[in-house]
Amino acid sequence: MTSATSSGAETGELSSSTVQVTFDDGIAWVVLNRPDKRNAMNPTMNREMNVILDALEIDDRCKVLILTGAGEAFTAGMDLKEFFRETAGFDPIKRHRMMAQATNWQWRKLRYFAKPTIAMVNGWTFGGGFVPLIACDVAIAAEDAIFGVSEINWGIIPAGNVTKAIEAVLNERKALLYIMTGDPFDGKKAAEIGLVTESVPQSELRATVVALAQKLMKKNPITLWNAKVAFKHIGEMDWELSEEYLTAKAIANARMDPERGSERGLKQFLDDKSYKPGLGEYRREE
Ligand code: ACO
Repeated sequence: MTSATSSGAETGELSSSTVQVTFDDGIAWVVLNRPDKRNAMNPTMNREMNVILDALEIDDRCKVLILTGAGEAFTAGMDLKEFFRETAGFDPIKRHRMMAQATNWQWRKLRYFAKPTIAMVNGWTFGGGFVPLIACDVAIAAEDAIFGVSEINWGIIPAGNVTKAIEAVLNERKALLYIMTGDPFDGKKAAEIGLVTESVPQSELRATVVALAQKLMKKNPITLWNAKVAFKHIGEMDWELSEEYLTAKAIANARMDPERGSERGLKQFLDDKSYKPGLGEYRREE
């Protein structure tokens, strides 16, 4: 059952016990919602996030997904009690299933999500929280958000693909410093080292993220999807394979695109002279 809030946003049937989902003007706000536990990701949240991401990917109310946290945390990482301590005695297959539920949404589904994703980092972000953070296409952080690869502080290595995620965005000098010391750092530092795209004062965080979401919504959605997924795959390829793949992907994109964006774009620039591709997007409604 969907209901409208005072701001016109809709909260609805996708919200769960640990995640709040709200739709507002093309944005799906996905809020990790265990503020009392600093949004630590427990098995219930991991199970629920898989269902939510699957539903949002084909929900027309979601044109851009914004991932954030309730209260003072983005997420304090994996739930040390429910995810680690309480499952230590599980049999290996049961434990494997639980791990898969975590990684399935935290990087696999989020990283290749068919619509743009933005991490709005409002506060504490630790350990396992780096995976969904980095899996999002863009991350905007509050300057006073605190980050930490804290695994070393309690005697484990950053597994669950945390190290892989960090390696995708940080250079070796920065990555190893934070992996090996576990030292916390703020949003400004996160932007400086490239962990997040940009940091802004907490008071400007929401408006900055909404403006970016609105900008992305004006672009051709099929091309946006193919462009982001192509970027994420070519990192694993050599130059020869990458060129083959991108050529095929470009042809697939043109075939998939119901609005025939490239033809419109060329016509509006070359014939109608109605816009400049270097300065903005073509008119999608004609
Ligand atoms: N797992 C389980 N519970 C957590 C977690 C977590 N990752 N983080 C916070 N909580 C719980 C606390 O146990 C506490 O619960 P309680 O009220 O039942 O005692 C509640 O959330 C509030 O936590 P506080 O520590 O009191 O909150 P504070 O604001 O003072 O500190 C901070 C916040 C810095 C995030 C701190 O809670 C912390 O260090 N959390 C752990 C961060 C971390 O290292 N995460 C794991 C990374 S490793 C991995 O993800 C694989």
